[in-house]
Amino acid sequence: MRRKVTKAIFPVAGMGTRFLPATKSVPKEIMTLVDRPLIQYAIDEARAAGIKEFIFVTSRGKGALEDYFDHAPQLEQELKKKKKSELLQILKNTNMESGAIAYIRQHRALGLGHAVWCARRLIANEPFAVILPDDVIAAEKPCLQQMVEAYAETGGNMVAAMEVEPERSSSYGMLDVAEDLGQLVKVKGMVEKPAADKAPSNLAVIGRYILTPNVLQNLNQLKSGSGGEIQLTDAIAREIEQSRNVYGYRFRGQRFDCGSKSGFLQATVAFGLAREELRDDLSAYLRSIMQIDKAAQ
Ligand code: UTP
Repeated sequence: MRRKVTKAIFPVAGMGTRFLPATKSVPKEIMTLVDRPLIQYAIDEARAAGIKEFIFVTSRGKGALEDYFDHAPQLEQELKKKKKSELLQILKNTNMESGAIAYIRQHRALGLGHAVWCARRLIANEPFAVILPDDVIAAEKPCLQQMVEAYAETGGNMVAAMEVEPERSSSYGMLDVAEDLGQLVKVKGMVEKPAADKAPSNLAVIGRYILTPNVLQNLNQLKSGSGGEIQLTDAIAREIEQSRNVYGYRFRGQRFDCGSKSGFLQATVAFGLAREELRDDLSAYLRSIMQIDKAAQ
């Protein structure tokens, strides 16, 4: 019987420089799409996939993130008094059970691989998920849940994969495909941010992973790679060499890169339009500015 994935690492120690000056005092993960912080989307996705232990790798200045998951008795009291039961429920949904969250500090931003490695003692000897809250995925069935279901069949390591235009490959870890099985691909290599003509395929890795503890072992031995950072991609690539049990999973859904301004704005529009109470107003506004734009051409 394959061991269930019940632990997830959320690496949130990055500096979020692309959102300065906002990120001078607001952690990127607290920025909101409509009315929910990015981290809430990630937590909801993890819960849907059966995750029970939530491990945050944080850094200086991320206090607001820790506060966000605390109970807010005063606020709850106030909403109760005013009989705002819907809002009270929204608030309660953000509460986390005591002991379900752990915070680990990454003292220096040495890269995503290093951030994951910082959580090694809490993972011990189990398979685990990694979720990058910057990558928000709109999907009927949450992306990690899709992956956990596929993993129940395959075991090994699994990364979420998405097709990209060749000129975008220098922004991603790219998969070298050994065998295309449809939804799944068997991977024979991974390259971090290759130039378009060096990309081994058009399949890019995005921020959802299911990994074996071996990857943590590999991280133990890694020196800094591309960009001077310790890369998670390099540790997974080593796992491919050693055990050939890495799969790419073509998830069903739309991914938004909320670590970039453009992606964040696109997600704001998409999630706004998906909300019944906002749809009419927002789409009327978008249509009106598109018409102005056309008239100006
Ligand atoms: P990014 O590459 O987006 O970096 O990290 P960043 O610092 O968050 O943002 P910019 O580029 O300065 O705007 C991808 C993910 O890896 C985490 C980040 O928090 C983010 O979730 N990360 C990155 C760490 O936890 N530690 C690191 O040393 C680097």
